[in-house]
Amino acid sequence: MKAKIIGTGSYLPKKILSNHDLEKIVDTSDEWIVTRTGIKERRIAEGEFTSSMAVKAARKAIQDAGLTIDEIDFIIISTLTPDYMFPSTACLVQSKLGCKNAAGMDIQAACTGFLYGLSLANSLVKSGAYKNILLIASEKLSSIVDYEDRSTCVLFGDGASAVVVSSLNRNGLSVESVCLGADGEQAELLILPAGGCREPASNKTVQEKKHFIRMAGNEVFKHAVRRMESASKECLSMVGMSEEDVSWLVPHQANKRIIDAIAKRFKHLAADRIFETVHKYGNTSASSVGIALDELMKEHTVKGGENILLTAFGSGFTWGASLLRYEGEVE
Ligand code: ACO
Repeated sequence: MKAKIIGTGSYLPKKILSNHDLEKIVDTSDEWIVTRTGIKERRIAEGEFTSSMAVKAARKAIQDAGLTIDEIDFIIISTLTPDYMFPSTACLVQSKLGCKNAAGMDIQAACTGFLYGLSLANSLVKSGAYKNILLIASEKLSSIVDYEDRSTCVLFGDGASAVVVSSLNRNGLSVESVCLGADGEQAELLILPAGGCREPASNKTVQEKKHFIRMAGNEVFKHAVRRMESASKECLSMVGMSEEDVSWLVPHQANKRIIDAIAKRFKHLAADRIFETVHKYGNTSASSVGIALDELMKEHTVKGGENILLTAFGSGFTWGASLLRYEGEVE
């Protein structure tokens, strides 16, 4: 039995923060940001939280799956910006949605969070332990971005994505393979230094701006390209496939230049088969792959029998890939 994604959803807050808006806040330019990252604007959650955005994306995914709230038996939320250290954001979402038959927990794998969650949901469904898992990735990155640091504040945005991973035999995206990786040796290259038990919040940590994202962008860039390429290859070889078998590529939306570097491996794919949202949402961390997947599915251009390759990379370092096959209307 294969687990299937039978519903997708996403939510982006209304407020747009454009590159021109950022020009008024830090010493940057639209030209620099577009050339280096491909980002034109990103969304900012005002008066909203990771949990409230998660609820909105989740409702859409459950509706898309044609399920009732009571049929959800497990909730996984991938986030590095939870509402609280504890309780988990999954419990807040479970209560808000009224999923009284669902257990719930958070996981954290930074920008690879959606794929780590998918791997877990896939295994739990295939084992028979759970039938309909709501996997959500939601991030309010604006809460941990230093809007005085031009090297990071231009990159990130807020948003949420959700999918229902199910044992039901109906139209959807079957999970053909998932592979994950990690390398904690590189932890310091992309980190939020304080607020954990090592450096609890204090006046000093606030003054030293240790509650904001710190990133060695150049280094992260090189690792991101290398790891997403190798994960994609490994994920395909797990099911005896090669680059030529991929119909759509949905990479983590961190930087257009990273996406272009990975796309070089998939020379047979036309540009419109490499799905991009980075220009309009920036890097939404764990949510990014799920938002792009939802938008791709809602375009209704994916045909029965086509293969979608997802890949992501993030802090940790963590990385991963997954091959999905659309079992829907064959035209
Ligand atoms: N506007 C204008 N100038 C800037 C800006 C800005 N917003 N930011 C940096 N600069 C300057 C720097 O100060 C530097 O100036 P200098 O040469 O005088 O010192 C110059 O531009 C070049 O800076 P670099 O950091 O070398 O620029 P680079 O080409 O590497 O681009 C970037 C930076 C966009 C951050 C890139 O390295 C990148 O995308 N890295 C990967 C990010 C990523 O993939 N993250 C994924 C995981 S995220 C997660 O897990 C939460």
